[in-house]
Amino acid sequence: RTTTLLRRETVAVTVPVALAALLTAAGPATAAGPAGTAGVGDPYFPLAGNGGYHVSHYDLTLRYDPGSRHLDGKAVLTARATQRLTRFDLDFQGLKVTGLTVDHVKAAHRRDGQELVVTPQRALRKGERFQVTVTYSGTPGPVTDPDGSLDGWIPTDDGAFVAGEPQGAMTWFPANNHPLDKSSYDFTITVPEDRAAVANGVLLGRRTTNGRTTFRWRQTEPMAAYLATATVGKFQVKQYTTRDGLKVYDAVDPREAAAAAPVVKQLPSVLEWESRLFGPYPFRAAGSIVDHAPNVGYALETQSRPVYDRAPDLSTLVHESAHQWFGDSVSLTSWKDIWLNEGFATYAEWLYEEQHGGDSAQKSFDALYARPATDGLWAFPPGDPGSGANIFGTPVYARGAMTLHALRTTVGDRAFFRVLRAWAAAHRYGHGTTAQFERLAERESGQDLGVLFRTWLYGRGKPGRP
Ligand code: ARG
Ligand code: ZN
Repeated sequence: RTTTLLRRETVAVTVPVALAALLTAAGPATAAGPAGTAGVGDPYFPLAGNGGYHVSHYDLTLRYDPGSRHLDGKAVLTARATQRLTRFDLDFQGLKVTGLTVDHVKAAHRRDGQELVVTPQRALRKGERFQVTVTYSGTPGPVTDPDGSLDGWIPTDDGAFVAGEPQGAMTWFPANNHPLDKSSYDFTITVPEDRAAVANGVLLGRRTTNGRTTFRWRQTEPMAAYLATATVGKFQVKQYTTRDGLKVYDAVDPREAAAAAPVVKQLPSVLEWESRLFGPYPFRAAGSIVDHAPNVGYALETQSRPVYDRAPDLSTLVHESAHQWFGDSVSLTSWKDIWLNEGFATYAEWLYEEQHGGDSAQKSFDALYARPATDGLWAFPPGDPGSGANIFGTPVYARGAMTLHALRTTVGDRAFFRVLRAWAAAHRYGHGTTAQFERLAERESGQDLGVLFRTWLYGRGKPGRP
């Protein structure tokens, strides 16, 4: 969610055409045999992810020195070939590769933009499990997204703000970098002893020797690469376990502490409230990372523990928490469906206000609907943003939430809340598409919702009053 005071209003952006043509960079069978493709076929990010294999686990060992901004890394990927592979790609940008093995045998590799092309000494059989080990080092920095924002490893004055949506995971570890591939993660991160390194999941342990502290984190439930973090800073840390056994770990930059404290402490009650609405919270760990990163301008729903570039307001905390169900547990199949993340998280904000003495969701809807047809809110339809430059635009968030409200007023509260819970349950730890959501809503409500979704998700310009 955008955290700058003036939420950036989106203007229609001309679509960089023929992005899809890049897909042909994907490697079909060559004389040497079948190769994994350079992307999974995402229309907005054609090189994101890779074909031919699935990663079940990442074991990342990192050592970061905030002073020199130097990172040393080792990534061990446990994967399974989904086809015969004579070579395959990883997404990795910037850092220098110092060693690469497949099943402990040195493998040939070369860089081609964001693709790290790996040719193992012998071909991998379809269905075969294999392990890729990459050692690397250098000075990581962010990528610039199509909308001009930064993501990935973003250095701060005392560490790094690490958030990878949609592309930035590849700036700090080699990955199958598309939400279609979800994996468990282990992190072992060493930083100077006056810093903390905060990743996803449960803190397994923490040890200081020779002026450096090593943090070990484990994310057990499947996670998309873009939701991984390893945020580093001089944080005040607080750890506790809730009544339901949820492990909470908060890390707050002291400069944000006064503003953050009253909001961050509400996390357990927000998660409880959301669990009543959406079904059980999907992860065993929770928490907040509140950084002081003035050049970022957004927060991200990093899995189990969102990262904020500054002290969040309660609405932002509700938004990032709702993403744990919608976006993190239920993942996108394609970036084009981004409204399934942002429309839902925004609608959660409206529901929270409605049920906590604030404006009704109807009032939030009406205020937006009153905007003139020339407003950026109507610049493109949320179900078809047109390009990666628009995925975080106002129509995706606001008109996405309006779509859910239109659904609610059409099917009634009982069916609507049943739909939200059924969606979270049916696709828990997996993936969903807009078409699947439409079908589920029709099934749960027993109504034909074709016109409603066509109008609100795909119609150009301002829809007629529902
Ligand atoms: N998913 C985040 C949120 O709305 C926004 C991430 C924005 N990322 C970016 N590179 N601009 O909660
Ligand atoms: Zn969001």
